[in-house]
This record gives sequence, C-alpha cells and structure tokens, in this order.
Amino acid sequence: QVSCAVEQPIVIGLAADSGCGKSTFMRRLTSVFGGAAEPPKGGNPDSNTLISDTTTVICLDDYHSLDRTGRKEKGVTALDPKANDFDLMYEQVKAIKEGKAIEKPIYNHVTGLLDPAELIQPPKIFVIEGLHPMYDERVRELLDFSIYLDISNEVKFAWKIQRDMAERGHSLESIKASIEARKPDFDAFIDPQKQYADAVIEVLPTQLIPDDNEGKVLRVKLIMKEGIKFFNPVYLFDEGSTINWIPCGRKLTCSYPGIKFSYGPDTYFGQEVSVLEMDGQFDRLDELIYVESHLSNLSTKFYGEVTQQMLKHADFPGSNNGTGLFQTIVGLKIRDLYEQIIAERAGVPAEAAKV
Ligand code: ADP
Ligand code: G6P
Repeated sequence: QVSCAVEQPIVIGLAADSGCGKSTFMRRLTSVFGGAAEPPKGGNPDSNTLISDTTTVICLDDYHSLDRTGRKEKGVTALDPKANDFDLMYEQVKAIKEGKAIEKPIYNHVTGLLDPAELIQPPKIFVIEGLHPMYDERVRELLDFSIYLDISNEVKFAWKIQRDMAERGHSLESIKASIEARKPDFDAFIDPQKQYADAVIEVLPTQLIPDDNEGKVLRVKLIMKEGIKFFNPVYLFDEGSTINWIPCGRKLTCSYPGIKFSYGPDTYFGQEVSVLEMDGQFDRLDELIYVESHLSNLSTKFYGEVTQQMLKHADFPGSNNGTGLFQTIVGLKIRDLYEQIIAERAGVPAEAAKV
C-alpha cells in the first residue's frame, strides 16, 4: 500500500542565507510536485508556512527563541544558534517524520515577535527551509535529502542591492553595513552546513566576461554527492568523464558572452562529488531542450520536462541561467527520491509509487 506515504513524510532540508533564493527554489520544487503552495487557509496571515497537495514547507525562522527585541538586547543575530530553539526544532521535525501533527510557533517577520502556534499536519513531503536545517546533528539525521544554496559574496551583494534598494528603499551604505555585520555569524554558523548537503548549488560571478562586477551573468555549479541512496547525479554526455561544452553552434542562440557547460568528478570537503557547471545565460528558453537532450539521469517523466518546467516559470528569477536550471533539476531529483523511498517502504517497484 502506497498510502503509508501520508503517515510518514520524507523530510528535505534547504539551507541558505536569507535573500538567497530559497522561496524561489521552493516555488520551483512544489511545481514539480504538481501544485502551487499556498499559506495555510484561515490561519495567521503572517504564517511563513506554505502548503500544497503533497508538500508542506516550513521556515525555520519559526524556531527563533529570541524575538527581535530579545536579539537586540542580547546583541545576537538571527544566525546565532543562541537565538534559535534546536531542541524544539528537533522534537517537531521528528514528530512530523513519525506522522504526528505539531503545534509549531510562528516568527512574525512583520512585528519581529513570536506569534501563537499553528497546527501543522504531516504531509507527504516536509521541507524545512532556513538558516539552520543542517546545523543540529539530531535534525540533520532526520533529513532524507539536503540542499545548500551557496551564493558567493559578490552575487549576494548584487541581489541584496537589487532587492533592498529597489524594493525596500534602503541605502547602499546600510546594505553594505548589514551584510558586513552578518558576515562573522554567517561564516561561523551557516556556511559550514554546506559540507553536509547532498546537493549544493553554488552561484559565482561569470568567468566569460573579464573583471565582471555587475553580477548579472552567473556561473552556477551543481555539486552532487556520490553514493547517496536514491540519488544518481546528473551527467553530461559521458558519466564520470571530464567535459567542456560550448553549445553555441547551430542549435542554440548565444549572444555575448555565450554559454559554457562543464562536467566532471571532483572532491568537496573530502567527499566524492560530480559537478555540473553552467556559465552564461540562455537567450531563448525554448532552446533549452537542446541542452536537456544532452543531459542524463535527469529523473524526468517525459522528454523535455526540464524545459517545460523552466518555460512554465520563465518569470521567476534565474530562469535564463544555471540557478533556475539546476533548481529545477534538483526538484526533479527530489521527486524521484521520494518515489523510490515510498516504493521501497511499500515493497513495490518505483513505478507503482509515482506521484
Ligand atoms: P529567500 O527566500 O532566500 O529570502 P528569495 O527567493 O525571496 O530568497 O529571493 C530573494 C531575492 O533574491 C529575489 O527577490 C531576487 O531579487 C533575488 N534572487 C533570488 N534568486 C535569484 C536568481 N536565481 N537570480 C537572480 N536574482 C535572484
Ligand atoms: C529572519 C531572517 C534573518 C534576518 C532576521 C531579521 O530571522 O531569517 O536572516 O536577519 O529575520 O532580524 P532582525 O534582528 O533584523 O529583526
């Protein structure tokens, strides 16, 4: 019986600094699972939770033990483990994994206060996104798959400026100051989690434009750990080989500075990984099918599914580059992982457990 899925969710961890594309990634992921995620109906309008038919995404900011005033008084940032309740996080993620509902606190981003708890039912797929999904060893052990979005400082800066200056009216100086103020805690508590991730999406400035500092064209790496059960890394042309590919021939329109793919084995924090890299951006998203046709182990259900997903969300940030492409691919890999876990539990072939 495949229905045991409802009772025992699989748990996914997504770690990144704030403003690094977690919510965009979540929208791509829930779309792969076939439905947009919405805030809980009739609940606190400031809830950070998103629910779809299959997936519930909670934001780990809800486990802040110190509210905004408390953090200010104690002189700690939200990144500091002292401002977060890992015991409660562990208990509740464990409860969900055992198929039990939880009363999860809500951190209200508008007021900076902790609001009354909300009831969260166990879904099929439970995603914990935030600053610390892989920080606490007990929580880490509960994760069936983990992802770290590693946005380099240069790119983070460019995105923050774009958002906080354009949309929130902050000054350049104040943005610089807030990034600098967070950096020591980011380096101490957030960044080290990437060594535990099963997949890392690393976002760097392009190497195709000499001395580029605009941060518009990106070089994006998808770092995939080897030897993870139910996760077979994607490859380009020939599994395990080292490949450089500039696909700007007759089939792909590339304006300056072009597109470059690389693929090959590597090590990451002493562990074997496969790395797929894309530098540059697509001019025409529909031509992505040409790139897709050269990638293997994509876990698609039909030819062109990656391209279809990318076209469907062409308006999301990063749809013309490796960030959107690799987020979409990781979404498909998670769907595959889910189906295989469920099939194994039920003792049936993976085909029978497809969503
Ligand atoms: P988070 O949930 O981690 O705070 P969001 O997904 O809300 O991050 O993204 C924050 C901002 O970062 C977006 O409004 C956008 O300006 C920028 N951003 C996110 N992802 C990308 C991307 N792939 N390419 C360019 N900008 C991006
Ligand atoms: C959330 C975010 C943090 C951010 C904080 C604001 O917890 O995840 O990244 O720093 O809100 O904190 P502040 O102390 O400025 O209210």
